Amino acid sequence: MTTPDAVQELKRLSAERAVEMVETGMIVGLGTGSTAKLAVDAIGRRQREEGLKIIGIPTSEVTAAQAKSLGIPLADFSTIERIDLTIDGADAVRLGTLDLIKGLGGALLREKIVASASARMVVIVDGTKLATPFGAKVPVPVEVVRFGWQSTHHKLAGLGATPILRLGADGQPFITDGGNYIIDCHFGAIAEPAALEHALRALVGVVETGLFIDLATDVIVARDGGIEVFRRD
Ligand code: A5P
Repeated sequence: MTTPDAVQELKRLSAERAVEMVETGMIVGLGTGSTAKLAVDAIGRRQREEGLKIIGIPTSEVTAAQAKSLGIPLADFSTIERIDLTIDGADAVRLGTLDLIKGLGGALLREKIVASASARMVVIVDGTKLATPFGAKVPVPVEVVRFGWQSTHHKLAGLGATPILRLGADGQPFITDGGNYIIDCHFGAIAEPAALEHALRALVGVVETGLFIDLATDVIVARDGGIEVFRRD
């Protein structure tokens, strides 16, 4: 089952399983991307049908707009310190450690801020995101300040990446919600994600990386054979 419709159905199953973990009274981090969008839809549905009451912290302007359209109350870090549960997608998952690559949708900085303030980060994926070796199929998105991005690009190449400045549909550099650029770094298979994350973050000009280490607590994978939940203690 590999058609786009089938993958969409797997994403929905994974999203709905995660939303079963949401309880009234929770502060919930709302992820970004096509899978997280389905989770936000499911929260909106539970709100309407069951009277679920939560407060959401969105990880992007796009998710904020979706949540508002569904009547989900939102807050930000001016009033909230700790998030009970965040539900978000991922571009690649390394089973065992639950390391992630995120940010192909461009929201990695806010996603990481929200994930790191969360007691639990539940990641929702279809089986295609488990492709091995970790990192071989997707680049690591790296958010960089615009000033001197060419210099940062050069330094990223020095770490062994093939770096590509991300462009938007208009052919101009893609600009994140934080006003920065993204450089997609193709490293090939990543044997030591934590060490790579450390090296990337040490570069001047790097704001944040799409490597999420020690953040995911649960990964819900929907595949043809059913749903599996992986947990990190
Ligand atoms: C957004 O910036 C990303 O981190 C997404 O969470 C990630 O790209 C997964 O997106 P999909 O659910 O659309 O695959």
